[in-house]
Amino acid sequence: MNALLTVEELRKCYTTSRGDLIAVDGLSFEIGEAETVALVGESGCGKSTVALSLLRLIQPDGGRVVFDNVDLSVVSGREERRLRRQVNIVFQNPYSSLDPKMTVRKIVGEPLTTAFGLRGRALTKRVAEHLEDVGLGAEHLTRYPHQFSGGQRQRIAIARALALKPRLLVLDEPTSALDVSVQAQVLNLLKELQQRHGLSYLFISHNLATVEFIANRVLVMYLGRIVETGPVHEVFSNPRHPYTQALIQSIPSTDPRLRNRLRPIKGEVPSPIDRPPGCPFAPRCDRVLPSCRDELPDLVGTANDLRAAACINPLDKET
Ligand SMILES: Nc1ncnc2c1ncn2[C@@H]1O[C@H](COP(=O)(O)OP(=O)(O)O)[C@@H](O)[C@H]1O
Ligand SMILES: [Mg+2]
Repeated sequence: MNALLTVEELRKCYTTSRGDLIAVDGLSFEIGEAETVALVGESGCGKSTVALSLLRLIQPDGGRVVFDNVDLSVVSGREERRLRRQVNIVFQNPYSSLDPKMTVRKIVGEPLTTAFGLRGRALTKRVAEHLEDVGLGAEHLTRYPHQFSGGQRQRIAIARALALKPRLLVLDEPTSALDVSVQAQVLNLLKELQQRHGLSYLFISHNLATVEFIANRVLVMYLGRIVETGPVHEVFSNPRHPYTQALIQSIPSTDPRLRNRLRPIKGEVPSPIDRPPGCPFAPRCDRVLPSCRDELPDLVGTANDLRAAACINPLDKET
């Protein structure tokens, strides 16, 4: 498979009053054409920092982001604008991401005006098409964000993100702020849009059920690093990294047979400022060995099944 996006050794360090905070620590992954890759992990593990770095909304400190075989850090001018249009983002909260003073026509149309100078009737027509694409009628054109429900607002945000016909959408917890009943509708819409337009998604979430529904592959992130990766169903049914297993067991299940297995992950995520040597999960891990505290384990995998885990004492297939 030819990768649409290749991320190599991405690094981002925030300078804080308490010291340097390494939010993303050498992350590498690929996303193929029309593929959905999920990025999961507890709050604070660095997911949004990855998203913002891919969009160049923050400047990473190291690594490469290659889109369609072009290194985004070296392009400029017209080529940069062309490539920037091909990647867009939808944020978690449609209540804060949409300008309350703008009509839907302006919200969805603004990128078209900026990029192509589209105005007047031609703009209205295009915006109406984009609204229809996300299941909203043209009667909404003159309305303001507060006149919509959360699910409708997220549809508007998606329409805006798709206005310039990107090839990759970064979805940063796109359904987390929505009512459970509405989440499924938005997820179904995202699946439809992907099929209709051949889109690739980086789907960021801490909701594993959602990830299982929408993604092909998953990247499990812990304290700025990927600790496990592979096809979603395989990773979730047969996790190799103890952190992945703990994450699965900590999620409330709708399946009553699994409910009494619910176990919160013990201990706290170490501070990204003062990280312990060795594996950052070692202080919380059931399977910890003395040597886990010495060295940071590499993400090693088996080439034949695309799976990899950064653990020196991974779970066996039998467990
Ligand atoms: N602008 C910032 N300045 C300083 N620290 C930040 C900033 N943004 C995020 N962080 C810190 O970086 C780490 C990763 O944050 P984030 O990428 O938002 O994680 P996630 O999206 O997984 O919750 C956290 O420890 C967070 O507190
Ligand atoms: Mg986040």
